[in-house]
Amino acid sequence: MNTFQPGLEGVPATRSAISYLDGKQGVLTYRGYRIVDLAEHSSFEETAYLLLDGELPTPVQLAEFDAQLREHRSVKYNVHDIMKSLPITGHPMEMLQTAVASLGMFYPNDVPVQIRSPGDESARYVHGQSIRILARMATLVAMWQQMRLGNYPVRPRTDLSYAANFLYMFFNGQEPDPVMARIMDACFVLHAEHTINASTFAAMVAGSTLAMPSYVIAAAIGTLAGPLHGGANERVVRMLGEIGRPEDARGWLDRKLAAKEVIWGMGHREYKVKDPRAIQLQKMMMELAQSRGTTSAIFETALALEEACEERLAPKGVYPNIDYYSGILYREMGFPTDQFTSLFAIARTAGWLAHWREQVSENRIFRPTQIYIGSEPRSYTPLGER
Ligand code: COA
Repeated sequence: MNTFQPGLEGVPATRSAISYLDGKQGVLTYRGYRIVDLAEHSSFEETAYLLLDGELPTPVQLAEFDAQLREHRSVKYNVHDIMKSLPITGHPMEMLQTAVASLGMFYPNDVPVQIRSPGDESARYVHGQSIRILARMATLVAMWQQMRLGNYPVRPRTDLSYAANFLYMFFNGQEPDPVMARIMDACFVLHAEHTINASTFAAMVAGSTLAMPSYVIAAAIGTLAGPLHGGANERVVRMLGEIGRPEDARGWLDRKLAAKEVIWGMGHREYKVKDPRAIQLQKMMMELAQSRGTTSAIFETALALEEACEERLAPKGVYPNIDYYSGILYREMGFPTDQFTSLFAIARTAGWLAHWREQVSENRIFRPTQIYIGSEPRSYTPLGER
């Protein structure tokens, strides 16, 4: 019991019914539904409902959930004021954590967050807060994009889907292209949940203290911001830019592997085959290229590098992960590189909230133990005698 596992690797931290991953088969399911089916046939709204509630909604349930999401898209003007006082040079994830943390002050509540039975007051509170936070995440990210460009943020629309409204607000009120909206929606579905990763665990730990949801999601955002978690897709884009042309991919790879350098977007601790989310994103990248009637140099370079990696890395079980294609896709959609992790955060909020609900439904505060490696008890030496 007292064996130390760095990073708690392989140590079950909870019992969860939310998602399942089989890294050898390349399967990821949300509540038992394959990610491929959800990305192709579901919507982010429906997937969020599924993650939070455990079952696919009926048409009436979905309509009601969606209507509530639309209703809560706006944030109070005071939140806008807080954002206005932040430096535009700050990273969007820092803004997001600050703004989400501030929501707890602007929308206070003292309902206890320990669910004892499915329909009790706490359960209703957790459900209501989940909708409000999820609805506002996209708003905050989109507002900041316009604010840091010196524009007044675009007001949310209630006649658009979650993904379409996000694009509309993010790109300064441009009518969203239906293909882009569909791709954005599928990207949100693909990023919504991924078992117990670092940010989800952070949300669970904060949730286990029965802290209010703004603390829980702010903790998760801060954890996602680290380069070992969110952010590998930014590096993929830079790496492909450095390679430059598809015909240079093989030589570049040989040089990097000879120097024992890491190839960004390749490999995964859990998946030993191609990440099912990378397969979907690659398909969407092709869909986008088709709709535009042209492909891009960066995408062609990515394909060439993947082919070269197939020979050198696949025998080690190293294949493209989700970050390999998400960054390229986001870049092609017009998103600035430093917003990639914010897009991840919007989607993953659905998973964080689902785990928060699960945690407070069967709660025990996290209090792991440690293996003490410090000094034996010793006498205090007064300052003047040291
Ligand atoms: N580039 C080059 N070689 C890689 C590699 C990569 N991206 N990922 C794994 N390998 C190599 C390892 O060096 C090791 O080689 P060896 O057996 O000759 O020593 C072998 O493949 C097995 O890898 P392993 O160390 O077991 O993988 P891991 O599970 O410890 O690492 C990651 C997983 C994600 C940390 C690693 O693949 C990585 O750093 N990838 C790039 C970063 C990235 O894209 N992160 C986002 C993940 S979603």
